[in-house]
Amino acid sequence: KRVGILISGRGSNMSALIAAAQAPDYPAEIVGVLSNRAAAAGLVTAAEHGIATASLAQSKFPSRDMFEDVMTQTLESWDVDYVCLAGFMRILGADFVNHWAGRMINIHPSLLPLYKGLDTHARALADGAATHGCTVHFVTPGLDEGAPILQAQVPVLPGDTPDSLAARVLVQEHRIYPEALRLLASGQIAALT
Ligand code: GRF
Repeated sequence: KRVGILISGRGSNMSALIAAAQAPDYPAEIVGVLSNRAAAAGLVTAAEHGIATASLAQSKFPSRDMFEDVMTQTLESWDVDYVCLAGFMRILGADFVNHWAGRMINIHPSLLPLYKGLDTHARALADGAATHGCTVHFVTPGLDEGAPILQAQVPVLPGDTPDSLAARVLVQEHRIYPEALRLLASGQIAALT
């Protein structure tokens, strides 16, 4: 299966997916990486791996729908079967999401349905949560609301800061995202649409 990844920044989850997909028995190949920020470090990493890259700034388009139409055209020019959101920091419109329904997944740094949206680590700490974690889920029009595929938990430790907690969660993100894509691309899971 052919996979496109959408990023906005660092791209460490993208790198984890690229690394996993290099295994000969992995059922997916990363064929393109699209960023909405030209300065995203992940674009450089992807290019170093010989993967096609594209950068599209939403501000250059008259509307979000037109921006998202060009994203879909770009992904379709790469002939992708699936789309992975990996730190893509734009809320996607319903038309784009519905176009890719059942074929687009996201990694979110919380144990959904807890802490949808931003600043998840600080919010978990502020609540005194004993555990925290991450979720790979199907993308649906409601933000961070699609069906979960895999989750991983980590303990919240005394003295944690948002950064220390984020780092502990990120290790798990890099483990479960490639595993979730493997399940999807090998046909072992599907969205109920
Ligand atoms: C990750 O924490 C991911 O869960 C969230 O944004 C961050 C992206 O990091 N959606 P990276 O770009 O994959 O390093």
